[in-house]
Amino acid sequence: MPLRGVRIAGAARHAPERIVTNEDFERWLDTSDEWITVRTGMKRRHWASEKEATSDLAIAAAQGALAQAGLRADEIDCFIVATATPDYMFPATACIVAAKLGAVGKPAFDLSIACSGFIYGLTVAAGLVRSGVYRRVLLIGAETLSKITNMQERSTAILFGDGAGAVVLEASERDCFLSAELGADGTTPSTLFQEAGGSRHPVDHAAIDAGLQYIQMQGREVFKFAVTSMIAATDVALERAGLTRHDISFLIPHQANRRIIDAAVKYLEVPRERVLINIQEYGNTSSASIPMALAEAVDEGRLRDGDVVLFVGFGGGLSWGAVVWRWSAVGPQKAQA
Ligand code: ACO
Repeated sequence: MPLRGVRIAGAARHAPERIVTNEDFERWLDTSDEWITVRTGMKRRHWASEKEATSDLAIAAAQGALAQAGLRADEIDCFIVATATPDYMFPATACIVAAKLGAVGKPAFDLSIACSGFIYGLTVAAGLVRSGVYRRVLLIGAETLSKITNMQERSTAILFGDGAGAVVLEASERDCFLSAELGADGTTPSTLFQEAGGSRHPVDHAAIDAGLQYIQMQGREVFKFAVTSMIAATDVALERAGLTRHDISFLIPHQANRRIIDAAVKYLEVPRERVLINIQEYGNTSSASIPMALAEAVDEGRLRDGDVVLFVGFGGGLSWGAVVWRWSAVGPQKAQA
């Protein structure tokens, strides 16, 4: 009998060594530790070195997740990298990751939906496993946002960090995927975008002179959208799972701004100790933020078997999503091997 459930068998994270503190920005920007802390909740973020690309961070996180699941890379059936900062426009970063992990020949593709990448990826990957297409999928959220951030622009320079989080999804008897709600509205892409580098505006000297290769963002609009979309997606996903807000055991939100998380938490009435917040250490790592936070919760033993975990995020697109997940212990699934 094919297994028709899915579980997370391993979760791990990786952040580059270099740490940039709020005080560091004071040396070249008109900003302060106090402004950044009060407005965002961030204290530090990790930035990749010149030699590190997104795939390097992704591979380190993937190796951790595989080790936790007790699997080799060649036992994975499909590789997905959610990222807004791929190594190249093409080929997909996932191809590079799979090859370097030693899984040449396996399907590998990127998923591009900015900060909603992990939520979309989890929905797609869980679907591939539950439908029986693949038994094991490695899903990675990985970013090097520091490479596309204008470090002279104080409203964005302080926000973004680099990192990767990976999960191994595996077929299981018990089905941990309870529901998902995804959405997108591409009416005004310029609310949050990297203007140059694609086919609408290839990178040329004029684009570079105008700084169009960097992230541009209407901060206040994104803020308002973030709170309403997180709440709305959560309500729909919970209803689909036949649950209510009071059933949430643990909330793992996208780490974009502490005040956005606080507003959502207030509405959802989840006790603070049941919310994973690590924005103070990593800043906004886009599609990596949720899997990095999940891996941290797993490392710290904060998730118990049977917990209802809510993953919720939003980002460029604009896009949003929530996944309701029944937690089950990570590690090798010997009985089903
Ligand atoms: N230091 C000091 N002052 C600053 C800084 C800074 N680093 N950045 C902006 N300011 C100033 C502004 O210039 C403005 O000054 P003014 O009033 O003289 O014009 C003032 O602070 C207030 O600016 P606001 O933009 O209104 O500040 P706000 O409280 O909205 O905070 C922030 C800005 C942190 C960007 C907030 O709007 C936010 O977090 N928005 C959501 C961001 C987000 O979630 N982005 C997701 C991106 S993820 C992805 O898809 C890549």
